[in-house]
Amino acid sequence: MEHMLEKDVERVLFSEEELRQRVAEIAAEIDRDYAGKEPLLVSVLRGSFVFMADLVRQIHLPCTVDFMAVSSYGSGTTSSGQVKIVKDLSEQIEGKDVLVVEDILDSGNTLSYLLQLLQARRPASVRLCTLLDKPSRRTKPVDLHYAGFSIPDYFVVGYGLDYDEKYRNLPYIGVLKPSVYGGE
Ligand code: PRP
Repeated sequence: MEHMLEKDVERVLFSEEELRQRVAEIAAEIDRDYAGKEPLLVSVLRGSFVFMADLVRQIHLPCTVDFMAVSSYGSGTTSSGQVKIVKDLSEQIEGKDVLVVEDILDSGNTLSYLLQLLQARRPASVRLCTLLDKPSRRTKPVDLHYAGFSIPDYFVVGYGLDYDEKYRNLPYIGVLKPSVYGGE
């Protein structure tokens, strides 16, 4: 059966195959950089769940996983500076090598807050890995170690990314038709 969401997608930005390849490359970098260590991968819900699931299966080092959920106050498509922890980590991170896994880095508000918060818990190290990066949208500087793809300010959905909580189950990343979100 065809995906019922396809009709809302203007074009495919990254196909399943492109995503698979890039995720494997990032995992190989992580394997190299963390050799001899046992990183803790922290997935920031909800958008990163698909990327996280694919990434951990390509990492060959021993690693552990944990999950956090945050929400940023603000309306529409822009996040404000304030971030609320909706679900905190289940484990202590003191002395651990933490790798935060995100689907998209946009203004930097969420991640600059989150990285500071994690740093205060005295881990051995904290790094950020994001599948997508929109550098043109950045208002807060964020130290980014692993980025899958740098993209212009497109409205992207799929592979975990939503619009109005939908489209997360599309297996590729697509550009949403402006008519869907009330654009031109
Ligand atoms: C996205 C993404 C980051 C944040 C990035 O989450 O997963 O957490 O926005 O934006 P910023 O750089 O402007 O802070 P979103 O708020 O869409 O929630 P979701 O993961 O539940 O879809």
